[in-house]
Amino acid sequence: MQRVQQLRPLLPKGHVTYYKDQLLIVKGEKQFLFDSNGKKYLDFFGGIVTVSVGHCHPKVNAALTEQAQKLWHTTSIYHTEPIYEYAQKLLGKFPSKLNTVFFVNSGSEANDLALALARNYTGRFDVISMRNGYHGMTQTVLGATNLGNWKPVFPHGFNIFKSLNADPYRGIFGGSNCRDSPIQVKNRKCGCAPGVCEASDKYIEQFEEMLLHDFSHSSGPAAFLIESIQGVGGTVQYPHGYLKKSYEAVQKRGGIAIADEVQTGFGRLGSHFWGFESQGAMPDMVTMAKGIGNGFPLGAVVTTKEIADSFNKSLYFNTYGGNPLASVVGKAVLEVIEEEKLQENCAVVGDYFLKQLAALDEKAIGDVRGKGLMIGVELIDEQGKPLAAAKTAAIFEDTKNHGLLIGKGGIHGNVLRIKPPMCITKQDVDFAVDIIAKSIKQFK
Ligand SMILES: Cc1ncc(COP(=O)(O)O)c(C=O)c1O
Repeated sequence: MQRVQQLRPLLPKGHVTYYKDQLLIVKGEKQFLFDSNGKKYLDFFGGIVTVSVGHCHPKVNAALTEQAQKLWHTTSIYHTEPIYEYAQKLLGKFPSKLNTVFFVNSGSEANDLALALARNYTGRFDVISMRNGYHGMTQTVLGATNLGNWKPVFPHGFNIFKSLNADPYRGIFGGSNCRDSPIQVKNRKCGCAPGVCEASDKYIEQFEEMLLHDFSHSSGPAAFLIESIQGVGGTVQYPHGYLKKSYEAVQKRGGIAIADEVQTGFGRLGSHFWGFESQGAMPDMVTMAKGIGNGFPLGAVVTTKEIADSFNKSLYFNTYGGNPLASVVGKAVLEVIEEEKLQENCAVVGDYFLKQLAALDEKAIGDVRGKGLMIGVELIDEQGKPLAAAKTAAIFEDTKNHGLLIGKGGIHGNVLRIKPPMCITKQDVDFAVDIIAKSIKQFK
């Protein structure tokens, strides 16, 4: 660690590292990480929702090392078999109209390309993204990332309009039965009849108003880019039907609905492989990264053949996208998810986890939310305001000291973000809930 501290100035100051007493991680195995002192941690953040099937999974390791002995790279100017085998396997996970894939290296790059594709296809420039959403850090995509603490001071992402954050807990509309989750908002009531969600209807009304006022009546936006559940923004789920209706409002005007599945994809939500499916919504384009490669730099944009093929007015090239190493890793990850029934595990263990957290009798917990193994715990003070940053930081530090790694997010940094590798067990959950409860009790 001493050597790392000496070398630290070589990396920029803005490079975020967690914890006052920082960690030097040297090894990973399944859902566990080990630091340079040999201390073992239960990793409930998975390298920020990236380690999907477990650290150093033997099947993924074997695929990677076998390919590394044969061929690393040629780029797309020649054919290689792994990219086609992987494309076939990945596209098999989508509704049949989404039948063409571009491979890239990260989530930001996937979203950047998605916006370029949508603009090229529609011949329009305007885009909508939701307030409190996170979509990455290229200069274009930063315009769609609507969390002030990530916004640069220089101009970025032109013509990206912001829709209201459809958050049933803190948003302007909400209620106690809005979410696709075993746990609902406690501090709001609603009297909606079964199958009705007033909060959703009101957010959609606002969305339609925005379309009416902010865009030309003869040509709407090129695209609407939205996470299926917000990740960095603090695991915010939209009210029932919002995603489907907002997609349809854009599609009706000739725009493209883009599902950002960088965090929500690959079975993490349990009930479905993709977040948009869990809300009965049908996008025209899906972007993905993180869990797709279990830590290997890989991302993708999946869309219709018509949209993909319209991108031919200039050349398209990506040096590393879908290279043989990335492709064999991506395919092995999909095989592990199937063979080890990890989507089913997310459903069962995630449901148990959410209920255990909701059962904690702790006033500092304002909201428990999420689906499958994508979970948020919002911490509040006695007035219901976001818990002070110093207190959240103390809780966060304490969980780590007791061997549990979690994330934090939300615009106020007061939401504990829990998105572990998808192979965790109920015993792991019991261990984690016990630590979270004790840390909150002590430092709230
Ligand atoms: C929903 C979402 N989209 C896009 C990105 C950007 O991905 P990357 O960091 O791989 O560029 C992230 C990263 O956290 C994300 O959470």
